[in-house]
Amino acid sequence: MKNKIIEVLKENKNEYISGEVISEMLNVSRTSIWKYISKLREEGYIIESASRKGYRLVSSPDILDIDKIKKSLTTKYIGRDIYYYNSIDSTNKKAKNLAMNENKEAVIISEEQTMGKGRLGRNWISPKYKGIWMSIILKPEIAPEEAPKITQIAAAAVSKVLDDINIENKIKWPNDIVINKKKVCGILTEMNGEIDKINFIVIGIGINVNLEEKDLSPDIKDIATSLKIESKIFIDRANLVKNILNEFEYLYEDFLNSKSMGKSLEICRRKSALLGKTVRLINVNETKKVKAVDIDSEGRLIIEDEFGKIKRIISGEISIRGLNDYV
Ligand code: BTN
Repeated sequence: MKNKIIEVLKENKNEYISGEVISEMLNVSRTSIWKYISKLREEGYIIESASRKGYRLVSSPDILDIDKIKKSLTTKYIGRDIYYYNSIDSTNKKAKNLAMNENKEAVIISEEQTMGKGRLGRNWISPKYKGIWMSIILKPEIAPEEAPKITQIAAAAVSKVLDDINIENKIKWPNDIVINKKKVCGILTEMNGEIDKINFIVIGIGINVNLEEKDLSPDIKDIATSLKIESKIFIDRANLVKNILNEFEYLYEDFLNSKSMGKSLEICRRKSALLGKTVRLINVNETKKVKAVDIDSEGRLIIEDEFGKIKRIISGEISIRGLNDYV
Protein backbone atom coordinates (compact mmCIF):
# COMPACT_ATOMS: atom_id res chain seq x y z
CA MET A 1 0.00 0.00 0.00
CA LYS A 2 2.84 2.37 0.89
CA ASN A 3 4.30 1.90 -2.59
CA LYS A 4 0.92 2.55 -4.22
CA ILE A 5 0.59 5.80 -2.29
CA ILE A 6 4.05 6.86 -3.39
CA GLU A 7 3.17 6.07 -7.00
CA VAL A 8 0.07 8.27 -6.76
CA LEU A 9 2.03 11.11 -5.17
CA LYS A 10 4.75 10.80 -7.81
CA GLU A 11 2.22 10.96 -10.62
CA ASN A 12 1.00 14.23 -9.09
CA LYS A 13 4.44 15.54 -8.26
CA ASN A 14 4.48 19.24 -7.34
CA GLU A 15 0.71 19.25 -6.99
CA TYR A 16 -1.51 18.56 -4.03
CA ILE A 17 -3.79 15.57 -4.05
CA SER A 18 -6.42 15.19 -1.38
CA GLY A 19 -6.54 12.33 1.08
CA GLU A 20 -10.09 11.68 -0.06
CA VAL A 21 -9.07 11.21 -3.69
CA ILE A 22 -6.21 8.90 -2.73
CA SER A 23 -8.46 6.85 -0.46
CA GLU A 24 -11.02 6.44 -3.27
CA MET A 25 -8.36 5.53 -5.81
CA LEU A 26 -6.80 2.90 -3.55
CA ASN A 27 -9.90 1.84 -1.73
CA VAL A 28 -8.59 2.41 1.79
CA SER A 29 -9.71 4.72 4.57
CA ARG A 30 -8.35 8.23 4.93
CA THR A 31 -7.00 7.30 8.36
CA SER A 32 -4.91 4.53 6.83
CA ILE A 33 -3.65 6.94 4.16
CA TRP A 34 -2.58 9.28 6.92
CA LYS A 35 -0.78 6.43 8.76
CA TYR A 36 1.05 5.35 5.60
CA ILE A 37 2.04 8.96 4.89
CA SER A 38 3.58 9.13 8.40
CA LYS A 39 5.52 5.94 7.71
CA LEU A 40 6.74 7.30 4.39
CA ARG A 41 7.92 10.47 6.09
CA GLU A 42 9.86 8.33 8.57
CA GLU A 43 11.52 6.64 5.60
CA GLY A 44 12.79 9.95 4.28
CA TYR A 45 10.06 11.07 1.90
CA ILE A 46 9.32 14.77 2.29
CA ILE A 47 5.54 15.05 1.96
CA GLU A 48 3.85 18.37 2.58
CA SER A 49 0.28 18.46 3.79
CA ALA A 50 -2.10 21.40 3.72
CA SER A 51 -5.64 21.54 4.98
CA ARG A 52 -8.28 21.28 2.28
CA LYS A 53 -5.56 20.61 -0.32
CA GLY A 54 -4.14 17.26 0.75
CA TYR A 55 -0.63 15.91 0.22
CA ARG A 56 2.24 16.89 -2.04
CA LEU A 57 5.47 14.95 -2.60
CA VAL A 58 8.43 17.30 -2.31
CA SER A 59 11.31 14.84 -2.50
CA SER A 60 12.10 11.13 -2.24
CA PRO A 61 14.96 9.55 -0.29
CA ASP A 62 17.96 8.23 -2.17
CA ILE A 63 17.01 4.55 -2.19
CA LEU A 64 19.45 2.02 -3.63
CA ASP A 65 18.10 0.43 -6.79
CA ILE A 66 19.44 -3.11 -6.42
CA ASP A 67 18.21 -4.27 -9.85
CA LYS A 68 20.04 -1.40 -11.46
CA ILE A 69 23.20 -2.25 -9.52
CA LYS A 70 22.98 -5.89 -10.57
CA LYS A 71 22.44 -4.98 -14.23
CA SER A 72 25.46 -2.72 -14.34
CA LEU A 73 27.83 -5.13 -12.58
CA THR A 74 30.58 -6.66 -14.70
CA THR A 75 31.52 -9.26 -12.10
CA LYS A 76 31.45 -13.02 -12.59
CA TYR A 77 29.99 -13.82 -9.18
CA ILE A 78 30.47 -11.09 -6.59
CA GLY A 79 27.17 -9.24 -6.17
CA ARG A 80 25.15 -11.66 -8.29
CA ASP A 81 23.22 -12.60 -5.16
CA ILE A 82 22.32 -9.47 -3.18
CA TYR A 83 20.21 -9.43 -0.01
CA TYR A 84 18.81 -5.94 0.43
CA TYR A 85 17.28 -4.50 3.62
CA ASN A 86 15.66 -1.20 4.43
CA SER A 87 16.83 -1.60 8.00
CA ILE A 88 18.81 -4.27 9.79
CA ASP A 89 20.83 -4.59 13.00
CA SER A 90 24.13 -5.39 11.27
CA THR A 91 24.89 -6.61 7.74
CA ASN A 92 27.87 -8.55 9.11
CA LYS A 93 25.62 -10.36 11.56
CA LYS A 94 23.15 -11.21 8.79
CA ALA A 95 26.00 -12.32 6.53
CA LYS A 96 27.33 -14.69 9.19
CA ASN A 97 23.87 -16.20 9.66
CA LEU A 98 23.43 -16.71 5.94
CA ALA A 99 26.87 -18.23 5.52
CA MET A 100 26.34 -20.51 8.50
CA ASN A 101 22.76 -21.66 7.92
CA GLU A 102 22.34 -21.52 4.17
CA ASN A 103 25.88 -21.92 2.96
CA LYS A 104 25.47 -18.75 0.92
CA GLU A 105 28.14 -16.69 -0.82
CA ALA A 106 26.30 -13.40 -1.17
CA VAL A 107 26.35 -9.63 -0.61
CA ILE A 108 24.19 -8.04 2.07
CA ILE A 109 23.32 -4.34 1.85
CA SER A 110 21.13 -2.31 4.15
CA GLU A 111 19.93 1.29 3.95
CA GLU A 112 20.58 1.60 7.69
CA GLN A 113 22.03 -0.42 10.53
CA THR A 114 20.62 -0.14 14.02
CA MET A 115 23.57 -1.94 15.62
CA GLY A 116 26.39 -1.53 13.12
CA LYS A 117 29.59 -3.15 14.37
CA GLY A 118 33.00 -1.52 14.24
CA ARG A 119 36.36 -3.04 15.07
CA LEU A 120 37.39 -3.66 18.68
CA GLY A 121 33.75 -3.91 19.79
CA ARG A 122 32.92 -0.33 18.80
CA ASN A 123 29.62 0.84 17.31
CA TRP A 124 29.40 1.92 13.71
CA ILE A 125 26.92 4.73 13.10
CA SER A 126 24.96 3.85 9.96
CA PRO A 127 22.18 6.38 9.23
CA LYS A 128 19.50 5.63 6.66
CA TYR A 129 20.15 6.32 2.95
CA LYS A 130 23.40 8.11 3.75
CA GLY A 131 26.06 5.46 3.46
CA ILE A 132 27.10 2.11 2.13
CA TRP A 133 26.63 -0.55 4.79
CA MET A 134 27.52 -3.77 3.05
CA SER A 135 28.96 -7.21 3.79
CA ILE A 136 30.46 -9.66 1.33
CA ILE A 137 30.51 -13.37 2.16
CA LEU A 138 33.50 -15.23 0.69
CA LYS A 139 34.67 -18.82 0.83
CA PRO A 140 38.24 -18.70 -0.33
CA GLU A 141 40.40 -21.78 -0.30
CA ILE A 142 43.28 -20.16 1.49
CA ALA A 143 44.96 -20.61 4.87
CA PRO A 144 43.32 -18.72 7.77
CA GLU A 145 46.43 -16.57 8.28
CA GLU A 146 45.95 -15.20 4.75
CA ALA A 147 42.53 -13.75 5.62
CA PRO A 148 43.75 -10.28 6.69
CA LYS A 149 45.04 -9.82 3.15
CA ILE A 150 41.47 -9.81 1.89
CA THR A 151 40.69 -6.87 4.18
CA GLN A 152 43.49 -4.94 2.54
CA ILE A 153 42.26 -5.98 -0.90
CA ALA A 154 38.87 -4.49 0.01
CA ALA A 155 40.55 -1.27 1.20
CA ALA A 156 42.49 -1.09 -2.06
CA ALA A 157 39.26 -1.56 -4.05
CA VAL A 158 37.46 1.24 -2.20
CA SER A 159 40.43 3.58 -2.52
CA LYS A 160 40.75 2.93 -6.27
CA VAL A 161 37.03 3.57 -6.83
CA LEU A 162 37.22 6.88 -4.94
CA ASP A 163 40.27 7.87 -7.01
CA ASP A 164 38.28 7.13 -10.15
CA ILE A 165 35.66 9.70 -9.13
CA ASN A 166 38.38 12.19 -8.19
CA ILE A 167 37.95 11.99 -4.44
CA GLU A 168 41.37 12.37 -2.90
CA ASN A 169 41.84 9.66 -0.24
CA LYS A 170 44.46 7.65 1.59
CA ILE A 171 44.58 4.17 3.09
CA LYS A 172 45.44 4.06 6.76
CA TRP A 173 46.95 0.62 7.09
CA PRO A 174 45.54 -1.91 7.30
CA ASN A 175 42.02 -1.04 6.24
CA ASP A 176 40.70 2.44 6.91
CA ILE A 177 40.15 5.00 4.19
CA VAL A 178 40.78 8.56 5.31
CA ILE A 179 40.34 11.99 3.78
CA ASN A 180 42.12 14.97 5.33
CA LYS A 181 43.15 12.66 8.19
CA LYS A 182 39.54 11.77 9.00
CA LYS A 183 37.97 8.35 8.51
CA VAL A 184 35.36 7.85 5.75
CA CYS A 185 35.46 4.09 5.46
CA GLY A 186 36.09 1.22 7.86
CA ILE A 187 36.28 -2.49 7.14
CA LEU A 188 35.44 -5.24 9.59
CA THR A 189 36.50 -8.73 8.56
CA GLU A 190 35.10 -11.66 10.48
CA MET A 191 36.09 -15.25 9.94
CA ASN A 192 34.64 -18.65 10.71
CA GLY A 193 36.87 -21.67 10.42
CA GLU A 194 39.15 -24.17 11.98
CA ILE A 195 42.84 -23.94 12.72
CA ASP A 196 43.81 -24.76 9.13
CA LYS A 197 40.62 -24.13 7.17
CA ILE A 198 38.39 -21.17 6.46
CA ASN A 199 34.67 -21.94 6.37
CA PHE A 200 33.77 -18.41 5.38
CA ILE A 201 34.91 -14.83 5.65
CA VAL A 202 32.65 -11.80 5.96
CA ILE A 203 34.08 -8.51 4.73
CA GLY A 204 31.98 -5.69 6.19
CA ILE A 205 32.46 -2.37 4.45
CA GLY A 206 31.08 0.84 5.92
CA ILE A 207 31.40 4.06 3.91
CA ASN A 208 30.16 7.44 5.08
CA VAL A 209 28.85 8.70 1.75
CA ASN A 210 26.25 11.46 2.03
CA LEU A 211 26.34 12.03 5.78
CA GLU A 212 26.09 15.67 6.88
CA GLU A 213 27.96 17.20 9.83
CA LYS A 214 24.81 16.75 11.92
CA ASP A 215 24.89 12.98 11.32
CA LEU A 216 28.25 12.68 13.08
CA SER A 217 27.96 12.48 16.86
CA PRO A 218 30.19 14.82 18.91
CA ASP A 219 32.47 11.96 19.97
CA ILE A 220 33.45 11.14 16.37
CA LYS A 221 33.27 14.58 14.74
CA ASP A 222 37.01 15.12 15.00
CA ILE A 223 37.99 11.73 13.63
CA ALA A 224 35.27 10.92 11.07
CA THR A 225 33.93 12.56 7.95
CA SER A 226 31.93 11.72 4.82
CA LEU A 227 32.54 11.86 1.09
CA LYS A 228 29.91 14.58 0.78
CA ILE A 229 31.35 16.72 3.59
CA GLU A 230 34.80 16.54 2.00
CA SER A 231 33.90 16.83 -1.68
CA LYS A 232 30.86 19.09 -1.24
CA ILE A 233 28.98 16.97 -3.74
CA PHE A 234 26.14 14.48 -3.39
CA ILE A 235 27.45 11.05 -4.34
CA ASP A 236 25.48 8.37 -6.21
CA ARG A 237 25.65 5.44 -3.77
CA ALA A 238 24.40 2.85 -6.26
CA ASN A 239 27.18 3.71 -8.65
CA LEU A 240 29.70 3.45 -5.83
CA VAL A 241 28.40 0.02 -4.74
CA LYS A 242 28.60 -1.25 -8.32
CA ASN A 243 32.13 0.06 -8.84
CA ILE A 244 33.37 -1.31 -5.51
CA LEU A 245 32.00 -4.80 -6.22
CA ASN A 246 33.54 -4.73 -9.71
CA GLU A 247 36.92 -3.54 -8.45
CA PHE A 248 36.88 -5.87 -5.46
CA GLU A 249 36.27 -8.94 -7.62
CA TYR A 250 39.04 -7.88 -9.99
CA LEU A 251 41.60 -7.53 -7.18
CA TYR A 252 40.32 -10.58 -5.26
CA GLU A 253 40.54 -12.78 -8.35
CA ASP A 254 44.03 -11.48 -9.01
CA PHE A 255 44.97 -12.47 -5.44
CA LEU A 256 43.46 -15.97 -5.73
CA ASN A 257 44.99 -16.63 -9.13
CA SER A 258 48.44 -15.18 -8.57
CA LYS A 259 48.57 -16.19 -4.89
CA SER A 260 50.02 -12.77 -4.17
CA MET A 261 48.62 -9.42 -3.15
CA GLY A 262 50.37 -7.90 -6.19
CA LYS A 263 47.88 -5.46 -7.64
CA SER A 264 46.28 -4.55 -4.29
CA LEU A 265 49.65 -4.11 -2.64
CA GLU A 266 50.67 -1.57 -5.24
CA ILE A 267 47.55 0.45 -4.38
CA CYS A 268 48.01 0.01 -0.61
CA ARG A 269 51.59 1.30 -0.82
CA ARG A 270 50.92 4.16 -3.23
CA LYS A 271 47.88 5.34 -1.31
CA SER A 272 49.27 4.78 2.18
CA ALA A 273 48.67 7.52 4.74
CA LEU A 274 51.45 6.13 6.91
CA LEU A 275 54.51 5.22 4.87
CA GLY A 276 57.46 7.47 5.57
CA LYS A 277 55.73 8.98 8.60
CA THR A 278 56.32 8.66 12.30
CA VAL A 279 53.26 7.15 13.93
CA ARG A 280 52.26 6.08 17.37
CA LEU A 281 51.64 2.38 17.78
CA ILE A 282 49.44 1.36 20.63
CA ASN A 283 49.11 -2.12 21.96
CA VAL A 284 47.73 -3.35 25.25
CA ASN A 285 50.73 -2.49 27.35
CA GLU A 286 52.55 0.33 25.66
CA THR A 287 52.54 3.17 23.17
CA LYS A 288 55.57 3.63 20.96
CA LYS A 289 56.62 6.17 18.37
CA VAL A 290 57.84 4.33 15.29
CA LYS A 291 58.46 5.04 11.65
CA ALA A 292 56.23 3.29 9.10
CA VAL A 293 58.73 2.13 6.49
CA ASP A 294 56.90 -0.12 4.02
CA ILE A 295 54.24 -2.78 3.53
CA ASP A 296 55.75 -6.16 2.70
CA SER A 297 54.48 -8.73 0.20
CA GLU A 298 52.42 -10.38 2.95
CA GLY A 299 50.63 -7.12 3.70
CA ARG A 300 52.52 -6.59 6.97
CA LEU A 301 53.52 -3.11 8.01
CA ILE A 302 57.27 -2.74 8.36
CA ILE A 303 58.16 -0.36 11.16
CA GLU A 304 61.40 0.97 12.54
CA ASP A 305 61.60 1.83 16.22
CA GLU A 306 63.63 4.63 17.77
CA PHE A 307 66.65 2.32 18.09
CA GLY A 308 66.58 1.48 14.39
CA LYS A 309 65.15 -1.99 15.01
CA ILE A 310 62.90 -3.25 12.20
CA LYS A 311 59.70 -5.16 12.93
CA ARG A 312 56.85 -6.49 10.81
CA ILE A 313 53.31 -6.11 12.09
CA ILE A 314 50.36 -8.18 10.95
CA SER A 315 47.03 -6.45 10.82
CA GLY A 316 45.09 -6.68 14.04
CA GLU A 317 48.18 -7.29 16.12
CA ILE A 318 48.64 -3.65 17.00
CA SER A 319 46.38 -0.72 16.37
CA ILE A 320 47.54 2.60 15.10
CA ARG A 321 45.55 5.36 16.68
CA GLY A 322 43.93 8.21 14.75
CA LEU A 323 45.93 10.25 12.33
CA ASN A 324 45.97 13.14 14.76
CA ASP A 325 48.61 11.09 16.49
CA TYR A 326 51.07 11.86 13.73
CA VAL A 327 54.17 13.43 15.22
C1 BTN B 1 35.84 -0.16 11.74
O1 BTN B 1 35.67 -0.10 12.95
O2 BTN B 1 36.65 0.57 11.18
C2 BTN B 1 35.06 -1.14 10.90
C3 BTN B 1 33.69 -0.66 10.58
C4 BTN B 1 32.90 -1.61 9.72
C5 BTN B 1 31.47 -1.17 9.50
C6 BTN B 1 30.76 -2.04 8.51
S1 BTN B 1 29.23 -1.37 7.98
C7 BTN B 1 28.81 -2.87 7.21
C8 BTN B 1 29.28 -3.99 8.10
N1 BTN B 1 28.28 -4.35 9.07
C9 BTN B 1 28.65 -4.05 10.31
O3 BTN B 1 27.97 -4.22 11.34
N2 BTN B 1 29.89 -3.52 10.30
C10 BTN B 1 30.43 -3.45 8.97
